[in-house]
Amino acid sequence: NQYLTTKRFGHTIHYEVSCPSTQPIAHQMAQSGAPDGSIVVCEEQTAGKGRMARVWTSTQGKGIWMSVIIRPEIPPTKAPQFTLVAAVAVTRAIEDIADVRAEIKWPNDLLINGKKCTGILTELQADMDRVHAIILGIGVNVNQQVTDFPEEIQSIATSIQMVTGKTVDRAELVARILHHLEIYTDLYVMHGFEPLKILWESYSCTLGKRIKAIMIHQQIEGLALGITSEGILQVKTDDGQIHGIYSADIEIQN
Ligand code: BTN
Repeated sequence: NQYLTTKRFGHTIHYEVSCPSTQPIAHQMAQSGAPDGSIVVCEEQTAGKGRMARVWTSTQGKGIWMSVIIRPEIPPTKAPQFTLVAAVAVTRAIEDIADVRAEIKWPNDLLINGKKCTGILTELQADMDRVHAIILGIGVNVNQQVTDFPEEIQSIATSIQMVTGKTVDRAELVARILHHLEIYTDLYVMHGFEPLKILWESYSCTLGKRIKAIMIHQQIEGLALGITSEGILQVKTDDGQIHGIYSADIEIQN
């Protein structure tokens, strides 16, 4: 990739024209010792995976379907924060390349005009006290038209092209994502989450809003107050209690 500006990220590349999902390929590469910052990219995924066992539509040649193997020296408890770091990196890259500002819906959905343009899936290879690898799955809707999406998601999905009217060079955007991902990973490992928390907050469209957090066994409705230094979302319910949400689907209500 002629646009690559990084020291480590994106220097080992596994490319596929079509594959079920880049995630299992990256898992295998990580297990066989692939270095920090190795990536798997493809033109099309036939069984793209989203969070919470959902399907991720990955149309041929229209988006960025990529998994990045990252090996930060962090305990597994810090992995949720890392997801937020990745969301900031992709937001910054989209801003740089397409001149459009995406907002982050906690934890790591990127929305433009309220519709989803990017999803991030974080999977771990870890034991009790050490992360061996984070497999960061990044899906960016880049050059789709609305009819490229399945009908049932046409009202909630968008692409950079749909918003800006311009076709984006995917290789350039990949390089920029890796650029920010490397910088923010290094910043995070050296200085912790605090400097990145401020950045994440500045892009958030969740904080200060009334939200519904949908979890497997319960739902919590209330005001999204903020995120903790662990990346946990704090929600104040109408009875005044503050709840910490580790993982959920969020509906923004106002
Ligand atoms: C979500 O919002 O639910 C997360 C979507 C993550 C999609 C990416 S595309 C590249 C990588 N491979 C997959 O199968 N999923 C992730």
